[in-house]
Amino acid sequence: MLIQALDLAADAAVVVHNPSNMFYLSSGYTGEGVVYISRKTQAIITDFRYTEQAGQQAPAFRCVMTEKGMNHDQWVQKLAQEDGATVFYYEDDYLTVKAFQALRDAVGDGATWLPLAQKPEKLREIKSEEEIRCIREACRITSAAFLKVLPEIREGMTEKELTIRFNYLQLQLGAQGNSFSTICASGENGSLPHAIPSDRKFRKGDMITLDVGCKVGGYCSDMTRTVALGEPSAEMRKVYDTVLEAQRLGREALAPGKSCYEIDKQVRDYIDGQGYVGRFGHGLGHGVGIDIHENPRLSMTCHDTVQAGHVLTVEPGIYLPGVGGVRIEDTCLVTPEGNEPLTPATKELIIL
Ligand code: GLY
Ligand code: MN
Ligand code: MN
Repeated sequence: MLIQALDLAADAAVVVHNPSNMFYLSSGYTGEGVVYISRKTQAIITDFRYTEQAGQQAPAFRCVMTEKGMNHDQWVQKLAQEDGATVFYYEDDYLTVKAFQALRDAVGDGATWLPLAQKPEKLREIKSEEEIRCIREACRITSAAFLKVLPEIREGMTEKELTIRFNYLQLQLGAQGNSFSTICASGENGSLPHAIPSDRKFRKGDMITLDVGCKVGGYCSDMTRTVALGEPSAEMRKVYDTVLEAQRLGREALAPGKSCYEIDKQVRDYIDGQGYVGRFGHGLGHGVGIDIHENPRLSMTCHDTVQAGHVLTVEPGIYLPGVGGVRIEDTCLVTPEGNEPLTPATKELIIL
């Protein structure tokens, strides 16, 4: 079905190098190599380490092994010769110039090379039932791990220690692994949207931001919560309340037919209007799937239309250098009626 969605002419083939697209188009292959797809041939070209795995993960695909004198590019040439392909689509946003030149040289004269122009990424935007099942489970695990780790947070614990515990709990609850490196930012570190967990010890009055996610079946979850350790300052409480209301507005606005740009703008205008101009410097959200960041984006530069089947984050934040920050993020499934948040952990301010 995915192969048909590529809509290939009889003389055309797609040569895929991006691992996320290889996984998607083969319905599960996670090894290295190249996926070759034409109307007649669906093949994985890889080395010895992954041939058995390819057979297990993508049984519908023929697997051919690289060896001395027969590298990935030479296999592309051979497969193309076998099935008469002369038009090749390549990932213009992924292959290096050097790799592309080597591939063209191996295939030789008489071939036409055309950019694939993100066609697999476009297909990946709308999630299937099975993809949604995996994302839903990943989100459930992330939310559960968050609730489970809360009672362990105390004064003197470091950001790194909390990160280790959180990562452990996700794995224990059934995750394959993290979907990205856990972000844990406390106190003044909270103004760094993508802070690296440090040896900073938690203190009374800190806000602690945990931006976390895991993978199930190759699909990601993404969730952020900010909690307080003891009573936060009035300034940070106002920041929290503003971000919480912004997140509610974003979720309320997220529905099929809406412009990604408009949803971002509505939330951004609200935050700006509360006196935080310039303090929400990233997009409101992004697609989530095989990759943690996918299209479309809820941002100032994305004019795509939201569709049912998109899985998008809604994650406003306010960042005050030297003071702290708050971000609240849900992963949401866009439904025909609106959206369903898949990350159920509470968003009311938790004071530990
Ligand atoms: N976890 C990274 C992000 O929220 O985009
Ligand atoms: Mn996140
Ligand atoms: Mn995110």
